[in-house]
Formats: sequence, structure tokens, C-alpha cells
Amino acid sequence: MAMAAKPPLGWNSWNTFSHDINETLIKEAADAMVESGLKDAGYEYIVIDDCWSCRQRDENGRLVADPEKFPNGMKALADYIHSKGLKFGMYSCVGTRTCADYPGSFDYEFVDAETFAEWGVDYLKYDYCFKPRSADGPTLYRRMAMALRNSGRDILLSACNWGNDNTVDWIRSTGAHMYRSTGDIVDSWQSIKDIAVSQMEKQKFAGPYCFNDMDMLIVGMYGKSHNSWIARGGCTTEEYKTHFSLWAMMNSPLMIGCDIRSMNDDTKAILMNRDILAINQDVEARTPTVLKEWSEGADTAVTMFKPLENGDYAIGFFNFCDGDNGTHIQFSDMGLPTRGYGLQLYDLWEQKDLGVHTCKYSAALPAHGCLMVRAKVVKL
Ligand code: GAL
Repeated sequence: MAMAAKPPLGWNSWNTFSHDINETLIKEAADAMVESGLKDAGYEYIVIDDCWSCRQRDENGRLVADPEKFPNGMKALADYIHSKGLKFGMYSCVGTRTCADYPGSFDYEFVDAETFAEWGVDYLKYDYCFKPRSADGPTLYRRMAMALRNSGRDILLSACNWGNDNTVDWIRSTGAHMYRSTGDIVDSWQSIKDIAVSQMEKQKFAGPYCFNDMDMLIVGMYGKSHNSWIARGGCTTEEYKTHFSLWAMMNSPLMIGCDIRSMNDDTKAILMNRDILAINQDVEARTPTVLKEWSEGADTAVTMFKPLENGDYAIGFFNFCDGDNGTHIQFSDMGLPTRGYGLQLYDLWEQKDLGVHTCKYSAALPAHGCLMVRAKVVKL
């Protein structure tokens, strides 16, 4: 079955828990995914990242789940996750070891794909550490893609080579369903901004069945991570809103990274805003047009728009400045005739009608803030 027709939605253990994972936590995350309403909003994958296995393979060369962290094994955990109507994701690596020094899948691709299929895995994040220098990255992703596609189970391949070796040029051809093309996100505004700005030119390579993964969300972390390198003090709610809006607008998979067992109301409102999710999940996944307002090299504001399947347009206004800032869009840049037509605008965060406008719309934005609207073409 074809997978990733739309950007995948889910939760991943890494941003908050890193090495500190176990069966109870993953089950509680699955419970929270359902009870909080995230599942109803469309999130479906529960993904265990690095640090789940024993340090060595068994005598048959198979990967083994750490018996202390996962005493009932991965099959039982997969069954539990499936019983909640969710899908189960795991992690391995192109190289000889994973980034945190557990066994990688190099030269074991088909054996590991078989193991994952037996356990009931639906998604594999596939990292890029410890790649033998003589091995070719694209070939190694092709190999795992082939192994998964022939494992007897639908397993989504989530590549993670951080944009190295010009990922965008070859990743779609390997069979991967999504791919990281940035280094790791950390819980700070600077990281949100750096990733968003670095990915604007790469959007044209992403689309259905192979999306550009801008990395797992930091929404709702507020500086809480078991990994001090990721923690970094956290962000404000306003900044998390802008982060979520950018990732949604840019068709990124949305893999939640906070502790979903204890989200505050702001976090829930961000992650479950159906109107913003609809922009991300639009079936056509059009590349947004980016209009930058850079002044003398300094990042100021960006406006993005993209056509949606039903004839509407999504427009995002983003303020990258450290102070309040205005930005605007001229509708003729979107294709609107200068006479006879206007745009009816609806604010997707405030959930309020902004009226019909002709020619242009100007948005006043707080520092690091955004405005997300859905626009409908109207005849005047
Ligand atoms: C990095 C990857 C992170 C996380 C980590 C685990 O390479 O980008 O998302 O998976 O490895 O060690």
C-alpha cells in the first residue's frame, strides 16, 4: 500500500526522553495520544527513537530489545499500540552503529527488515551515523527501502541523513517516504528560525510519498528534555505557534516531541488546531511560494502562500525579527486580478473572519509571531 500520501503525523521519543525510554513510557504515550484527542486530530505514529536495543546482536545476528527497558519485547508493545488504533515506529541506522552506539543495520538490512516486520513495526526512522566511508549513502537507503518493501509488511521509511550528500537530489528515488534535510532541532527560537530559513529553497523537492522532514516538533517542550543538548531554555507559546505554522505551511511531517502525557492547554490548542492541520494535510501538498522581506541581510519577515485543493489559498505571515514588525502581501503576486475580485480572509489561530480585502493585506505581528489565514477568492 502506498504510504505518506500526506505528511505523516505522530510522536517520537527523542526530543524529550532521548536515552531514557522504556515500555511503560511508550505505552503511556500511546494512551495519551488517544485520551488527549491527538489521535482524533490525525496523529497516528508512536515512534521509539535510538537506545532501545541491547548493545550487541544475538548469536543469529538479530537485533534484540533491551530486556530491562522493554521486558515484554517489541512484539507485545506493537500489539498494545495497535490495539489503540495507532501505528508503531522504530529506529535504526545506515551505519555499523547508531548515533548513540547501539548496533546499526549496515550489512544486516534484510535481516533487520524481517525482524521489524515480525514485530509489527509500521515505520522506520533510519539515521546516518557510523556509515563506512567506502559505502555510498544513496545505495544504503536504496538497500533498506528494498528490504522494507519486500518484508511482507507496509513499513514507512523515514530517512535521517541531515541533508548530507545533497539528500534532496536522490532521496525520492531511493523509495524513502520522508527525509530529514537539516541537522537536529533543539528547543530554542534560534533553532526554529535557522531550520525554517534553511528549508525554504528545498521545498520544491518535497511532495506526496516523499516529504521533507524539518525535524521533530519542539512545541510544548518549554525547555524540558532529558537531553541537555536539546533543552536550551525552551520557547514561548507564541514561538511554538509560529514553529507549528511554518512546519504546517511547508508540508513537513509533524512528529510531536514533547511529553504528551502532560501537555498544557496552549500546547494542546497548537497541536490540535484542525485548521492549521488541514493546511499541512492538504491532499495536493503544493510547494509554498516564499516572499522574503530581507533587509540588508537581516531576516525580517516572510510571507508564504500555497493553493489548496478546494480553490482556497493558505497564507502565512511570519515575523523573524526580535521586535514587533509588519508585513504584507499583494494579491496580484498570488494571481488575483487587480479589479473585480477580492480575498475573503479567515484567521486560523484566532478563528475569526477578517473580512473581504482587495489588492493587499497588511499584518502587524509581534516579535517571532505569525498570522495564518485561509483565503477564498470572491467576485465583487
Ligand atoms: C540523530 C538524529 C536525531 C536522533 C539521534 C539519536 O542523528 O538526527 O533525530 O535520532 O540521532 O541518536
